[in-house]
Amino acid sequence: MKSIEHQQSFTFPAIGVEVLFGFGVLARLPEKVAEWGGKRVLLVTDKGVRAAGVTDQVAETLRSARIPCVVFDETPQDSGSKTVERALQLLKEAACDLVVGVGGGSSLDTAKAVACGATNPPPITQYAGLNKLRNPGLPVIAIPTTAGTGSEVSYWAVLTDDETQVKIGIGGVRVFPRVALADPALTLSLPPFLTATTGMDALTHAIESYTNTSYQPISAALTYRAMELIGEFLVRAVHNGADREARYGMLLGSLLAGMGMNPTRLGIVHALAMPLGSWQLKIAHGTGNAVLLPHVMAFNQEGTPTLYADVARALGVEEADPVAASRAAIARVRAINREIGIPQGLGALGLTEALIPQVCAEAMKSGNIAVNPRPCTQADLEAICRKAL
Ligand SMILES: [Fe+2]
Repeated sequence: MKSIEHQQSFTFPAIGVEVLFGFGVLARLPEKVAEWGGKRVLLVTDKGVRAAGVTDQVAETLRSARIPCVVFDETPQDSGSKTVERALQLLKEAACDLVVGVGGGSSLDTAKAVACGATNPPPITQYAGLNKLRNPGLPVIAIPTTAGTGSEVSYWAVLTDDETQVKIGIGGVRVFPRVALADPALTLSLPPFLTATTGMDALTHAIESYTNTSYQPISAALTYRAMELIGEFLVRAVHNGADREARYGMLLGSLLAGMGMNPTRLGIVHALAMPLGSWQLKIAHGTGNAVLLPHVMAFNQEGTPTLYADVARALGVEEADPVAASRAAIARVRAINREIGIPQGLGALGLTEALIPQVCAEAMKSGNIAVNPRPCTQADLEAICRKAL
């Protein structure tokens, strides 16, 4: 493991979320709504989750406990400020006092933003950044249906600003959900490609958080275990969605990574993910990250040849020499990408040579650049994007 400076001071926001984890924990939703004083629930979700029957299952769990709920299922793949405004309008019309988010990162982040928007003056976009909210939000209960973003335990809500088409993050302890209901049963119906891309997003969280310059012992304990779990279970979960052990391991891995990354931020992959998910590109977050991850690891490893030795061990690679182990970690990530059907390059996802300077200029504004393990310039990012094209 990386060594820890005895003089190092650090912050870990461990107080935010009560986690209920395991097959069947969805049944405890009414009890948690009551505990937080919820009388009428706004259920924020998307059409895909609804089509899979999960939204109705959650709504039925509430209604059978005589808790009224109103469903907002218009969350798009990359949710934005206009979606938040529409959901807020419904929340106000229906006089809801608690928000339940059901879905992947987009639905959960929208739910968190709506809860904050209900108690803070509009527009929601003015709170981009860390700790900009004036008031605590309404209580949120987050129910993930993917093992990916870790949004259920994260204090970030990432959205597109629909005026500028740029992705923004609203962050801080006031954004935390009150409760995460992480029920692996709800991930059993997730299709293989979504399992693959969201799982690689979780692995990217763990690797970037573990290896960046804000390394700290509590986050490291969480993200190291996340790498072990994702390394063991992602390929299995993609190849057999009904594998309950793999689904359990993946949901736990993504949750641990999400918890670990709160105070550390991430790295180049996530700096690039914001513009790649913006404008007309709208590259799905997990897919873009999966393609970029081995290229970014190769760049970082050049600066610190032993950087990924711990990552290799966590991913199950036996290699005593730290330089060789670090290289083997990158090879292992490439192999996982191949085994789970990740596209070869960003070109196939819509990135063009002409767009690379604009994407990289935007990425350089990200707070993730400052903590990347190897200092980098816009020219470095452009070279990475060209290799990943
Ligand atoms: Fe991510």
